[in-house]
Amino acid sequence: MGLFSANDDNLFLGVDIGDSSLKMVELRKKNKKIYLSNYAFSENVKGVNFTKIEDTNYLAQAILKVKAEAGIKARRVTASLPTFSVFSSVINLPTTNRKNMDAVVAEEAKKVIPLPPEEMILDWKLVPDSTSGNTQESGRVFLTGSPKKLVRHYIDIFRLAKLELASLETETFSLVRALMGNDLSTVMIVEIGASSTDLSIVQESIPVLNRSLEVCGSTVTTALSEKLGLDFNQAEQFKFDLSASLSDSAKEDLPQLIIKTLAPVIHEIEYMRDFFQKNSNGRTIEKIILSGGGALLMNLADYLSQHLNVQVIVGDPFNRISYPHEMKSIIAEVGPKLAVAVGLALREIS
Ligand SMILES: Nc1ncnc2c1ncn2[C@@H]1O[C@H](COP(=O)(O)OP(=O)(O)OP(=O)(O)O)[C@@H](O)[C@H]1O
Ligand SMILES: [Mg+2]
Repeated sequence: MGLFSANDDNLFLGVDIGDSSLKMVELRKKNKKIYLSNYAFSENVKGVNFTKIEDTNYLAQAILKVKAEAGIKARRVTASLPTFSVFSSVINLPTTNRKNMDAVVAEEAKKVIPLPPEEMILDWKLVPDSTSGNTQESGRVFLTGSPKKLVRHYIDIFRLAKLELASLETETFSLVRALMGNDLSTVMIVEIGASSTDLSIVQESIPVLNRSLEVCGSTVTTALSEKLGLDFNQAEQFKFDLSASLSDSAKEDLPQLIIKTLAPVIHEIEYMRDFFQKNSNGRTIEKIILSGGGALLMNLADYLSQHLNVQVIVGDPFNRISYPHEMKSIIAEVGPKLAVAVGLALREIS
């Protein structure tokens, strides 16, 4: 059952197809306000990696199952393309001839994208100049290239699931939309998932610097399981209990084992911040926004804030979305995991 009974026409669905999870958020628009209508996820399906499966029918059935079990009714969908399979980079354009931008970008793309241009779908956005903030004069564009084969695969999945695929985008854009809205400040988003950690520096809503690391939530679980002699599922539970059992005021420092395991992520944050700040005429990272299930790790935001001397918050993707007050604590728990799906659903609605 959905949270509200609604007319299907005003419902929009975001589907986040991750490595080991399928997540959905259904939003409803009414009188210019956006309401949470429903959400669902199938997490940690053992041995299944959704982004590697080529069997479209299997994936379509998996989507239909999660959707039916939750009672999701939306027909229009935006879905995410896996970050690792989409090329994205900021490129500098030659100073001459910026009239036909599509052609200039396509020509420059050939130099940086490893696949033949006829196999890619290119998309680009002008990046604001770091000094003047003027977009037109910067000569820099944020380029994404998605393999046509992959896009066709996703179109087939949703056709088989009898859903109308309105758009596809990479997770970083969904995260920016969900976590930042119209905020144009310069921030770093750190999305700690079950199979990777994705870091992006976002300048005026454009993810200008992006990195992906293997160290992530499940690395912490594996380290705990080895240290405590627990199997993976027990260690996962231990990790959740650690975050949940302590009240805010009684929270201890982040355990050394977790700090050690996450050291590569912390180093990468520092490295990216320094690199960006040195190369952007004094622009600074104003804040770090944590997201993904790993953002819920006990005391992580506080630890990072002290260690890095910058404001660190756990992002709230439901910030601009209305939901029943009684759901506040549930939303705080599931919010970071649903940020990508919220951003996807918001794409067609806001
Ligand atoms: N309360 C919590 N405390 C600590 N860690 C948590 C908590 N809840 C979830 N996690 C961790 O977050 C991770 C799952 O996060 P998320 O749902 O964002 O990943 P995913 O989207 O499935 O993975 P990916 O995006 O990497 O493919 C797991 O490693 C899980 O252990
Ligand atoms: Mg994810």
